[in-house]
Amino acid sequence: MLRVAVVGSGPSGCYTAQGLVQQDPEVLVDVLDRLPCPYGLVRYGVAPDHEKIKSLQNNLRTVLEHERVRFLGGVQIGPGGVPAARLRELYHAVVYCVGAATDRHLGIPGEDLPGSWSATEFVSWYSAHPDSAAEGFVAGARSAVVIGVGNVAVDVTRMLARSPAELNPTDMPHRALTALAASQVTEIHMVGRRGPSQARFTTKELRELGALPGTEVEVDPRELALDPAYDDPSALPAAQRRNVEVLRGWAKAPAQEAALRRIRLRFFLRPVGLLAVGGRVGAVRFERTVPDGRGGVRGTGRFEEIEAQLVLRSVGYRGVPLEGLPFDPASGTVPHLAGRVLREGAVAPGEYVAGWIKRGPTGVIGTNRPCSKETVTSLLEDAPVLVHEELPEDPLVALRADGVRPVEWAGWQAIERAEAELGASLGRSVVKLPDWESLLTAARSMTP
Ligand SMILES: Cc1cc2nc3c(=O)[nH]c(=O)nc-3n(C[C@H](O)[C@H](O)[C@H](O)COP(=O)(O)OP(=O)(O)OC[C@H]3O[C@@H](n4cnc5c(N)ncnc54)[C@H](O)[C@@H]3O)c2cc1C
Ligand SMILES: NC(=O)c1ccc[n+]([C@@H]2O[C@H](COP(=O)([O-])OP(=O)(O)OC[C@H]3O[C@@H](n4cnc5c(N)ncnc54)[C@H](OP(=O)(O)O)[C@@H]3O)[C@@H](O)[C@H]2O)c1
Repeated sequence: MLRVAVVGSGPSGCYTAQGLVQQDPEVLVDVLDRLPCPYGLVRYGVAPDHEKIKSLQNNLRTVLEHERVRFLGGVQIGPGGVPAARLRELYHAVVYCVGAATDRHLGIPGEDLPGSWSATEFVSWYSAHPDSAAEGFVAGARSAVVIGVGNVAVDVTRMLARSPAELNPTDMPHRALTALAASQVTEIHMVGRRGPSQARFTTKELRELGALPGTEVEVDPRELALDPAYDDPSALPAAQRRNVEVLRGWAKAPAQEAALRRIRLRFFLRPVGLLAVGGRVGAVRFERTVPDGRGGVRGTGRFEEIEAQLVLRSVGYRGVPLEGLPFDPASGTVPHLAGRVLREGAVAPGEYVAGWIKRGPTGVIGTNRPCSKETVTSLLEDAPVLVHEELPEDPLVALRADGVRPVEWAGWQAIERAEAELGASLGRSVVKLPDWESLLTAARSMTP
């Protein structure tokens, strides 16, 4: 049998495991994750109010329940955990599907003021990521600025605008729910440095903002008119054309005086600094930009300030280097050839990558399927050579002998039960456990 370790149980890890066991009856796969819970960003990124997308976890579950796949949670690969070199001793092949765990920075003055956060921190908080330590995002805030116009920016904007009644049925942790229910944020400015036709959000997600109860979406027609595609949106690719059409509709709509909250979509504003009021962020200063004719923008020397006691920068994610693996700091990815890890330009036999750590932090869940498929094809082509390596009998026995205590599938199921019980005790449906201690206590009740 060919033994493969897949590191990371997000979409790319699960699709890789699925491809391997479906295509080769002689493969055994261990899916290891540093967290006791599987599914990566499907559990800890996809917004709690997107229940249909969240339910993709059920598809990923069938992979992890396959008879030749084992989930081993709570196993960190790298410093403080199992070294990458040790995995190579225990498995014929290792596929790294570790995603892009960190956020990008703006590199502007005031970015670290209290009240300024990355969208990643905010998402981790409302998703109950056990590493999330931040609190008090919305406390005392009336106006919020979200920097960036991608789908994550749309997610965090929507979460700020949702009412308690809409959030209550989600699996959001109770502290986050309580804090958002008490939120006094009534103005949310989502700001792009380029134009509407260059925004990265998708139309379905954009439209959802217009369907939020009690919330008005405002678009300044003058900012739409600055867009190079304003006169002839038909020349745009379909996705961007639809975005521009939705934005034009909002720009023309009459004001709703009775709205409880306003989302203002702003364009052609480049952030240049965060301004302090009373020791914390009070406003964001932007420079007005105009199209440069090459798809980018140039500054105009005119500035504008938007009041904000909460600033969320949503300017993309970034891969982090994993000790023992090569890393390209420019792209934040592991260099590879069709999924085979490259060390100093040469293929490293037995080491592979898939997902965001391979391609960079773009693409929806489904994008990881063909990406993983390519990697699986490469690995199975190499299998006849890899399978000759002598291995210990069972990697799990060897890991345990090393002092590692993985959370196995029964442990994860115990976490699921504990979350259902917590929900019932709070008069809600499932409510996520938000910290390491409660997750591990639940899991260890089932794990040897
Ligand atoms: C906030 C947010 C919301 C999103 N919402 C949607 C959406 O609604 N719909 C959609 O289609 N797409 C959405 N996406 C995109 C989608 O989540 C990604 O395409 C997908 O999750 C990437 O998969 P991945 O497996 O490469 O990484 P991830 O999902 O990040 O999985 C990586 C896994 O590796 C584990 N790991 C990392 N390092 C180690 C280590 N050293 N040792 C062991 N394990 C490790 C992590 O714990 C994690 O479980 C969203 C993305 C974000 C950031
Ligand atoms: N519902 C869903 O399907 C869903 C939900 C969430 C995430 N996702 C996916 O997950 C991936 C990541 O999403 P994302 O929103 O994090 O990233 P993204 O789509 O790459 O968007 C990043 C945004 O940040 C802006 N930006 C970057 N650097 C900036 C700077 N220095 N100053 C100001 N703005 C800056 C970008 O503008 P420029 O274009 O000008 O660089 C862009 O608007 C995407 O593929 C997304 O579709 C999907």
